[in-house]
Amino acid sequence: MPSTVVVGGFFGDEGKGKIISHLALKDNPSIVVRGGAGPNAGHTVRNGNKIYKIRMLPSGFLNKNTKVLIGPGVVINPEILLKEIKDFEVSGRVFIDMNCGIIEETHIRQDSKGDLKEKIGSTGSGTGPANAERAMRTLKLAKDFTLLSDYLGDVPSLINSALNDNENILVEGTQGTFLSLWHGTYPYVTSKEVTASGICADVGLGPKNVDEVIIVFKSYVTRVGTGPLENELTPEDVSEKGWSEFGTVTGRPRRASEFNFELAKRAIMLNSATQIALTKLDVRFAECTGKTSYEELSDEAKLFIKKIEDELRVPVTLIGTGPDTSEIIDRRK
Ligand code: IMP
Ligand code: MG
Repeated sequence: MPSTVVVGGFFGDEGKGKIISHLALKDNPSIVVRGGAGPNAGHTVRNGNKIYKIRMLPSGFLNKNTKVLIGPGVVINPEILLKEIKDFEVSGRVFIDMNCGIIEETHIRQDSKGDLKEKIGSTGSGTGPANAERAMRTLKLAKDFTLLSDYLGDVPSLINSALNDNENILVEGTQGTFLSLWHGTYPYVTSKEVTASGICADVGLGPKNVDEVIIVFKSYVTRVGTGPLENELTPEDVSEKGWSEFGTVTGRPRRASEFNFELAKRAIMLNSATQIALTKLDVRFAECTGKTSYEELSDEAKLFIKKIEDELRVPVTLIGTGPDTSEIIDRRK
């Protein structure tokens, strides 16, 4: 288990935050490190009566023994980051790579109008324009910002030396496979490569140092913003099924379709996934709400899981049965 990478298998919002917080609490990794694009990501974590909405920090922060790191591939909004450091009580165990790019007001302005906003349906967070500037080699980096100086570190060295000491590390992806700049539904994608290889590059983890790749699929498919969604349901059908959701960052309603096996197969291939985490089983099968063992699931739900395993040929090892971090079935060995 020493290194586990968690990625989204569809269009983001698969419920990675919940899976990662469970893994962080259960496996006690010495480090949880975030790759992915930037504050366009939004994870929701519910633990007991507390709900956290996270955009910059890794969602594995709940375990107080775990260092929380952000890799150099991620662009940072300093204001959002500093607020999260304060609100989530991670001071003293948070390290931002000195080469993280910085989002400034101009990037947010460019992202909130024109084609990026209207055609692509961007989150308006400035992530895309900042990454474009990074490619132009003009973006400012974290090491140039005094406000961040207390939190700077060398993230690739930290994670690789933890692995040398045989410690567990958890690598947290954001967005989802089909929002990848290379493998997604271009141009309706995010500004980064977000499959497992891209996430590992973001944090400085070489391909031979990855032990497990957990791909997260929701029990149905959702997409926020524009771009193709095969067999998209009408808003009425979505609401009738009880699948209505709203984006964590933008509050926009999410579009939805049935679980798409062809997309899932391709996502397994692109990420070399070794395990599947299936979330929101309770939304499809209400009788499964809050269950923590596989045996307690209904026959119908078990059949759905078996179909996924048979078609995708990868075991479903984690099953989400409710929003709380404790509402999960963990079948890992
Ligand atoms: P951008 O990443 O803000 O440029 O947005 C580009 C597209 O990716 C839009 O359709 C967004 O809704 C989508 N997107 C970006 N990040 C996320 C995410 O974390 N979850 C879901 N959709 C996202
Ligand atoms: Mg999200």
